[in-house]
Amino acid sequence: MNAEITGWGKCMPPNVLTNSDLEQIVDTSDDWITTRTGIKERRISHVEASDLAAVAGQRALAAAGKSVDDVDLLLVATCSGDTIIPSTASRVQDKMGLTNAAAMDLNAACSGFVYGLVTGANMIRGGTNKTVLLIGTEKLHYLMNTTDRTTCVLFGDGAGAVVLEPSEEGIGLLGSDLGMDGSAGKYLHVPADGTQGEIGRRAPEQCGIAMDGQEVFRRAVTMMAESSLLAIQKSGLDLEDVDILIPHQANVRIIDATARRLGVDSARVFVNIQSYGNTSAATIPVALTEALEQGQIEPGSIVAFTAFGGGLSWGSAIVRWGERVTPIATSDAELPPADKTTMEILQSNLDFFGEKSA
Ligand code: ACO
Repeated sequence: MNAEITGWGKCMPPNVLTNSDLEQIVDTSDDWITTRTGIKERRISHVEASDLAAVAGQRALAAAGKSVDDVDLLLVATCSGDTIIPSTASRVQDKMGLTNAAAMDLNAACSGFVYGLVTGANMIRGGTNKTVLLIGTEKLHYLMNTTDRTTCVLFGDGAGAVVLEPSEEGIGLLGSDLGMDGSAGKYLHVPADGTQGEIGRRAPEQCGIAMDGQEVFRRAVTMMAESSLLAIQKSGLDLEDVDILIPHQANVRIIDATARRLGVDSARVFVNIQSYGNTSAATIPVALTEALEQGQIEPGSIVAFTAFGGGLSWGSAIVRWGERVTPIATSDAELPPADKTTMEILQSNLDFFGEKSA
């Protein structure tokens, strides 16, 4: 028995933050951000990560033709969830009414979706579960230090989801590779996140994402290429067999350099970073949903996913798509309307972290 993706969906919050909006916050320019990252705009959420997840989850379930009662395992990949206790998955389970589902968070930062895909598929392969809902959801603007122009232009909020179900051998997950270099965790971190350090002694600059951009860039390209090749090899396939590569959307230059290193031409690489920035665990399920909506995946297509992120973690997965590339049904789930403008939402960041960098 194997496991395949039978449903997909996304939920992007309505508020847009453009590069010119960011020019009002830090010393940057549309030209710098576009040429260095490929990002033109990103979304800023007026609701919690669990709310984005619940809507994306409902849409994925509808696409699979499944009801909330069918789900027996909920995996929520996130590194910017609502709370640590209870888990974000606990909140999503409640909001969606997934009363028959076990639920847990999975934190592998930007690699979280690929980690979740391999975990969920293997729970099905092992016979423990029949319908797994895997959601990548992030509210990264919460960690956006508005005085640090090297990081605050990169990230955005959003959620994407897939449903995994049993499939016949040869369809679904064919091979994968997951890895971590914990000794390099310092290159991308939130210094005062979680329980480390002294209670009540957290300086604002320790509460945002801190990153050595060039180190992360270099490692991301090397590991996404190496890991993709390993996963392809484990699948018994060749690089030429891959119909579409859906990489984590961190930076268009990382994506281009990875594709060049692999020798995959850009026509086979899906990119939507211009619209959403880096939404960490959500980038791949959102990109997958858009690739399907745009008809870029056909019955039997070989789809390669690859990701790299905080940890430093990486992961790749190769999937042979099944027969169905259109949703069975659509969901009418929607977010509540936004009651604030983008800048009004970001005012709390400006108040906490401060304004204008040097
Ligand atoms: N606007 C204007 N200037 C800026 C900005 C900005 N937003 N940010 C940095 N600069 C300046 C720097 O201060 C520096 O100025 P200086 O030369 O006067 O000192 C100059 O631009 C060059 O800075 P670099 O850090 O060398 O720029 P680089 O080309 O490396 O691009 C970037 C920086 C975009 C962060 C890049 O290193 C990168 O994408 N790294 C990968 C990190 C990443 O994507 N992380 C996301 C999470 S991990 C993941 O998802 C893979």
